[in-house]
Amino acid sequence: MKKLEVFGATRLKGQIKISGSKNASLPILAATLLSNKKISLANLPRVKDIETMLLLLKSLGSIIEKNKKITTIKNNKQVKTFASYGLVKTMRAGILVLGPLLAKFGKAKVSLPGGCAIGTRPINIHLKALSKLGVKFKIIQGYVHANAPKGLIGANIRFPKISVGATENLIIASCLAKGKTVLSNCAIEPEIKDLVNFLNKMGCKVKWISKRTIKIIGKAKPNALSYQVMPDRIEAGTYLIAAALTEGKLKILGIDPQIINTEIKVLKKIGAKIIIKKKEIIIEGNKKIKNINIKTSPYPGFPTDLQAQMMVLLCKANKKSYIKEEIFENRFMHVSELNRMGAKIFTSGNKAIIEGNIKFQAAELMATDLRASVSLILAALASKGKSVINRIYHLDRGYEDIEKKLKKVGAKIKRVN
Ligand code: EPZ
Repeated sequence: MKKLEVFGATRLKGQIKISGSKNASLPILAATLLSNKKISLANLPRVKDIETMLLLLKSLGSIIEKNKKITTIKNNKQVKTFASYGLVKTMRAGILVLGPLLAKFGKAKVSLPGGCAIGTRPINIHLKALSKLGVKFKIIQGYVHANAPKGLIGANIRFPKISVGATENLIIASCLAKGKTVLSNCAIEPEIKDLVNFLNKMGCKVKWISKRTIKIIGKAKPNALSYQVMPDRIEAGTYLIAAALTEGKLKILGIDPQIINTEIKVLKKIGAKIIIKKKEIIIEGNKKIKNINIKTSPYPGFPTDLQAQMMVLLCKANKKSYIKEEIFENRFMHVSELNRMGAKIFTSGNKAIIEGNIKFQAAELMATDLRASVSLILAALASKGKSVINRIYHLDRGYEDIEKKLKKVGAKIKRVN
């Protein structure tokens, strides 16, 4: 089992180029199922979840070719409509093939994603909304058996709760439905905007008609296209937090600062010096880190995917801070590991109280989920001595070349067996 050794403490200095967004790439890859034409995608991050999604598309019959920079996908006429548990269980975003398969073939058998460390990850909102497009489904032995005998028929649908995945599944499915669909109370993460740009470039007709309402005209005729996926704002936020934590100075390249405005405001409030330019952010950490209270919420609020990383930073604040995790029911798995490094974090339900002025101690650690793993690396960078992080397969799902990028800015980090 691979693990990471990190020798701290290190002040990170230099520049980091942000890779393509995992969470924009996954729905875009699922949406390629709508088309039989050749689709070329650039800037897909080389991470495990993308590999898994490509395997899933291959298992459905897509022909995939890739070189260092471009991945091309070509669906021939006959595509299977069965997404296996083996592929979907490790990457819950596999459920995103349900919408396009139903739209194109009127049927699909897709494994229920199952839960993960951060929560039960239900898909009731996806299924209820798809049923409003005329889908009938049954859950049999852990699979969704879905059918739309008359094809998908456009409808007006209001999501009962903001859901990134359900919004994506329904936008994609509605592109081939008969007639018009209006979706309201949508998630509006930048990754969804990227998906909409991709769909429109492919020849679909998707238009935002208000902040959280989108209109899709169905029966699109998808054409061939080349598309470059947006950069990863969570990766960018992670490295910004790393600079603030280690009192370092980093130039983050290749990201539009606008899409991480909330995070930049928070980091300025805790005392980091930040200069923003068109496609780069320069951050300098301050010795004194001011405490702050954070509540995670759907975009444009503070992202749940940066909650664990922020918690590490707040351990170094001058006073106590509070974090409320409003999106997932069990996203504090990193707390016990951080407390083993000398942190004093107390949790009750979805609230965490973080004592400040902590001196992290290096330790042997266990990663539990993607964002928790990277929070352990951050804490290790701020600790004197050698930390060892186990189960780093969680990390490899979503951070491209993380050791290489951190080494380049001064971190002493290596992967060992
Ligand atoms: C997406 O997950 C992201 N994953 C997550 O990133 C991210 O944390 C999350 O959105 C919130 O921003 C991808 O984009 C691949 P949701 P998703 O549907 O779509 C509940 C990472 O680290 N819910 O917005 O699964 C759900 O349980 C990952 O990159 C239902 O109850 O998130 C959660 O509590 C982790 N029923 C809340 O809604 C449903 O049918 C938000 O989930 C769907 C969701």
